[in-house]
Amino acid sequence: MAFCDLFKEFQPIRVDGNISLRQHEPEKDARPLWEIYCDEENFKYFSGYRKPHDWNKEGAIRAEASRVKGFKGKREYSWVVTINGEVVGQIQLFNFTNHNTCAEVGYFIKRKYWNQGINTKVLIAVCKFGFRVMGFERIEAIAHVDNIGSNRTLQKAGFTKEGMLRKRFYLNDRAEDGNMYAIVKEDLGLRGIKG
Ligand SMILES: CC(C)(COP(=O)(O)OP(=O)(O)OC[C@H]1O[C@@H](n2cnc3c(N)ncnc32)[C@H](O)[C@@H]1OP(=O)(O)O)[C@@H](O)C(=O)NCCC(=O)NCCS
Repeated sequence: MAFCDLFKEFQPIRVDGNISLRQHEPEKDARPLWEIYCDEENFKYFSGYRKPHDWNKEGAIRAEASRVKGFKGKREYSWVVTINGEVVGQIQLFNFTNHNTCAEVGYFIKRKYWNQGINTKVLIAVCKFGFRVMGFERIEAIAHVDNIGSNRTLQKAGFTKEGMLRKRFYLNDRAEDGNMYAIVKEDLGLRGIKG
């Protein structure tokens, strides 16, 4: 399938019996995702994070609608992560480069669900989709050096640490280091497998 045709119809992913990935539904997802964004601990390694102000329904819906717009504009593929229907996080492929053979992945999970192996399963499922369906050769991620959960989930999902990017993050009024990770198609043994 041509790369641009991938954005005609959004494809959800069933990760396992409980965990599913689906497209953002702005009206429905605005509140639960806003609640996650309000947890500063969840975003302490995100450059540019600003804690949301008081609940503002229109603003939150607009923020969610921008994810759908990003998909329609072929700039990103962003899934809402649900467990038995509850919204617990987000994962997205974006920054498509090198003739759409390379993408970056970003993610977060609600704190109450950390360290139960959820993101690792989700990340593996999204990488398989990225390689098999979207045709990527390489998927990259950058994790702050102190972000243990993110470094660990990337390693568990089969990413290789390719180096350290000095002063890659701007946090707490200073530049801090990040680890550069990538996974290539061959790492999942998917060469030759079609979507
Ligand atoms: C990064 C994140 C998505 C991981 O999600 P998750 O569902 O907890 O991930 P998993 O449970 O699959 O893997 C996390 C691993 O880190 C380990 N871990 C986390 N904190 C740890 C700590 N302080 N010390 C040692 N290990 C730790 C967990 O034990 C687990 O490894 P294990 O299965 O070998 O025990 C989640 O922590 C998160 O949302 N963080 C905030 C957002 C964020 O930083 N996103 C990434 C930006 S690059």
